[in-house]
Formats: sequence, C-alpha cells, structure tokens
Amino acid sequence: MNRISFVSKNENKYNEIESRLKRFDIQLEFVELELREIQSNLLEEIATIKSDYAYDVLRKPLIVEDTGIFIFALNNFPGPYSSYVFKTIGNEGILSLLKNKSNRDALFKTIITFNNGKIREMFSGELKGKISNEEKGGGWGYDPIFVPINFSSSYGELGYQNKIDISHRTLATERFANWFLKLKSTD
Ligand code: IMP
Repeated sequence: MNRISFVSKNENKYNEIESRLKRFDIQLEFVELELREIQSNLLEEIATIKSDYAYDVLRKPLIVEDTGIFIFALNNFPGPYSSYVFKTIGNEGILSLLKNKSNRDALFKTIITFNNGKIREMFSGELKGKISNEEKGGGWGYDPIFVPINFSSSYGELGYQNKIDISHRTLATERFANWFLKLKSTD
C-alpha cells in the first residue's frame, strides 16, 4: 500500500482526506504539527511555503492543505484569511456582514500541496455555493453557513459522508491521488 504523511493541526481535514485516499489504496499518516504560515493574499503562496517548512521538519514525502472561503459580495473576503476571521468574528460575524445582501454566492477552495524535497506539486479543488441566512446543522468551521451549489442544505446539514462526496477538499484530494499513483507507478 502507498503511504504518505499529512502535516496539520486539523483532525477534521485529516479525516476527510484520509477516508477519500483509502479508495485509492493510499494510507495517510497524521503528523500533528503546528506549521508556520506566511501572510499572503494567495492561498497557493501560503501552501507552497508551508509545504517547504513541513518537509524541512519531517524529511519524508508529505502533503499539506490550505483552504479559504471566498465571498463574492465581500470582494472575496475572507479568502486566505479564513482561519483568522473564523477565530475572530466567526459564522455569526460573516452572517451579519452579509445582512441585507442579495448576492450570497461564495466559493470554497482547497489547495493540497505534495512535497518530497525534490518535487513540489499543487492540486486545487473548488466548489461554488451560497452563504445561508442562518447557521444550519453541525460540522465544523464554516460548514453550518455554506450551502453547496445544487443543494438546499448546508455542509453541516448534509453530514460527513454527503459532504465528502462532493466537497472542495475531495476534489483536490482526488486530483492529488490520481497524480500520486502515477508517480508511484514510475518509481
Ligand atoms: P485553514 O486552511 O486551516 O487555514 O482553514 C481556514 C478556515 O476555513 C478555518 O477557519 C477552517 O475552520 C475553515 N475551513 C476549512 N475547511 C473547511 C471546511 O471544509 N468546512 C468548513 N470550514 C472549513
């Protein structure tokens, strides 16, 4: 079986990526480590530097993950600042920023970065949706306020399995998995 490490502090992300990678016969090891993150307006730049830092620490093939939610009526805010915004104003704060806004379109975007010290490769997954009018259901992070396109329930209401059947993270995970298996077959 192919193995790879996932470096993160976030167990929710690990669970979602791990269960998808199993389908590709890829085993994911969770390395719980707080990674230094640069400030940048670009998710891709944050992900690149983070993967280099993780490789410096770990010295074995790994993936890291970065996600942002981009809200169109707020000029794509919070985007790469999603983590800070969640910790400070949270879902309630986002809902009040969108009060009386008719355009509730948003995009969830995940970047998964592979790094083995020689090859660094990025895989992106995006899903459009809408910000709900109120928090709905459980889940984690922005799950209760993000309603994926073609659905009327939030990620939180859809629940774990339905979410990972369609999510931004799953799209990035599958792109990574297909590439990784090809890489392994030429090893
Ligand atoms: P980061 O990639 O860990 O910096 O995540 C950015 C922010 O988005 C954090 O506040 C996460 O809680 C939130 N987030 C990331 N992925 C998801 C998701 O799949 N659902 C809900 N919130 C998420």
